[in-house]
Order: sequence, then C-alpha cells, then structure tokens
Amino acid sequence: MTRRRRIYEGKAKILYEGPEPGTLVQFFKDDATAFNAKKHDIIDGKGVLNNRISEYIFTSLNRIGIPTHFIKRLNMREQLIKEVEIIPIEVVVRNIAAGQLSERLGIPEGEVLPRSIIEFYYKKDELNDPLVSEEHITAFGWATPQEIDDMMALAIRVNDFLSGLFLGVGIQLVDFKIELGRLYENDIMRIIVADEISPDCCRLWDVKTNKKLDKDRFRQDMGGLLDAYNEVATRLGLINENEAPRGKGPVLVKSDKED
Ligand code: TMP
Ligand code: ASP
Repeated sequence: MTRRRRIYEGKAKILYEGPEPGTLVQFFKDDATAFNAKKHDIIDGKGVLNNRISEYIFTSLNRIGIPTHFIKRLNMREQLIKEVEIIPIEVVVRNIAAGQLSERLGIPEGEVLPRSIIEFYYKKDELNDPLVSEEHITAFGWATPQEIDDMMALAIRVNDFLSGLFLGVGIQLVDFKIELGRLYENDIMRIIVADEISPDCCRLWDVKTNKKLDKDRFRQDMGGLLDAYNEVATRLGLINENEAPRGKGPVLVKSDKED
C-alpha cells in the first residue's frame, strides 16, 4: 500500500491528500489538548466519537442548506472532505456565559446572555488565539467585510440549528467554535463551514443537571470525558447505550452514508 501524503497535522486531526483533486481525508486523533496544548492527553476512542458526531452534524447542516466541507465518512476515524482555504479566524458563538467570556467580563458562568454573541479569534497558536475585532480582520486582510458578513450569517444559522438539535435531546448549547473556509468552484468563491463540530469545540450542558458533556471535563480535570462524549452520541441516536465499549470506540448503529 502506498503511503498517503500528509498535508497538515493539527492538535486533534491530520489532513491527508484525498483520492481526487480538491478533496482531502480528515483523520481524527485521540489527542486531547487545552490551553494551547500546554495540557495534553490521549483519550482512547475520542477520535472515533468526534468523527461520528461531526459527520452527523455536518450531514444535517448540508441537508438544510448550510454548506460545509463534509462529503462522507470513510471509516471509524476518517472522513472525505472538500479542500478549502481556511480563513484564519475562529468564530465563537455564545448563548450562555462560560469560559473566557466569564473570566474576561466577570459574568458568572451559567448566566443567560441578553442575546447570542459572536466573537472572532485570530488562529495563531504562538499568540494563544487572541480575541480580535472586525477592524483587525479587515485591516490585516484576514477576511473582507463581505466575508465577515457571510461568516456571521453562517455562524448564526449553525447556532440556531445546533441549539434546537441539542435541546431536543436534553442538552443546552452554551457556546461553540467554528472554522470557515473559502471554496473555489467554477470561478465562484463561497464560504463554507470546515473543520469539525464535536464536543471538543462546543460547551454542552445537560438541561436538568447542568452536567458538562464536553471538553471542559478535560480542561477542568473532571474526568469522564469519554463517557460524556458517548452520552452525547447516544442521545443523538448515533450509538446504542449498552454497546459502547469503554475505550474501544462505539458501535455504529445508524449511518448517514448515502452510498
Ligand atoms: P472559550 O470560552 O475558551 O473562548 O471557548 C468558547 C468556545 O469555543 C468553547 O465551546 C470552546 C471553543 N473553543 C475551541 O474549540 N477552541 C479554542 O481554541 C477555543 C479558545 C475555544
Ligand atoms: N483547543 C485549544 C488547545 O488545544 C484550546 C482549548 O480548547 O482549550 O489549546
């Protein structure tokens, strides 16, 4: 078997050259990192769960007309995606105060925000992904004003969709981060949702108990990260409650693959 060309390795994923031009294979690792990788662990099975959860969310977004880079899941850890030019801005949408917002502005964690708030962070590990404004983004040419409008519109649509999806299974969407990319097709450029959407990049709290079902369990040394991700996948109907062997990855019961 020939080795595939590795295009990029990030903290939680690897991108390989895809089978056709304009495609890539996105591989989900088991690495968990926080605080710009100062904290790092391997959580056996996390990559499998994130691949499955992200597949489900991106497939649903594609179906309701929110364009994403996702084409199809290939196996337990890999998915086929469209190659895009990643915009170096992380877009965070917050519905409830937590994390950096609580720290920066002194708003108690759990306080419902007056409205959903969109924030931009410059994707630069060496600088710890600093908070930036639209002024910085346009002045430094990271995105145009029109692109910022498109990014915000997509982020709000994703927020509405995800809030409803999770509320339907008893989970509150506190906040999340998305990454967007430029897709060039027939001389037209579109901005689409890229990267992943999983409990690694969302805050998800159980509606009744406020139990954290996301990466804060790792950031805050609470333990039980894999159980929490399993719980999210189970509630979304992606795995069977009693069939998810701890650490060995889940058993798939539902597939959105169209082939
Ligand atoms: P924050 O409160 O740390 O800014 O995080 C807001 C949301 O964005 C939270 O759901 C976690 C997510 N996030 C990432 O996925 N990657 C990151 O690098 C950061 C800073 C946040
Ligand atoms: N993902 C980032 C890191 O690895 C930050 C975080 O999620 O807390 O450092």
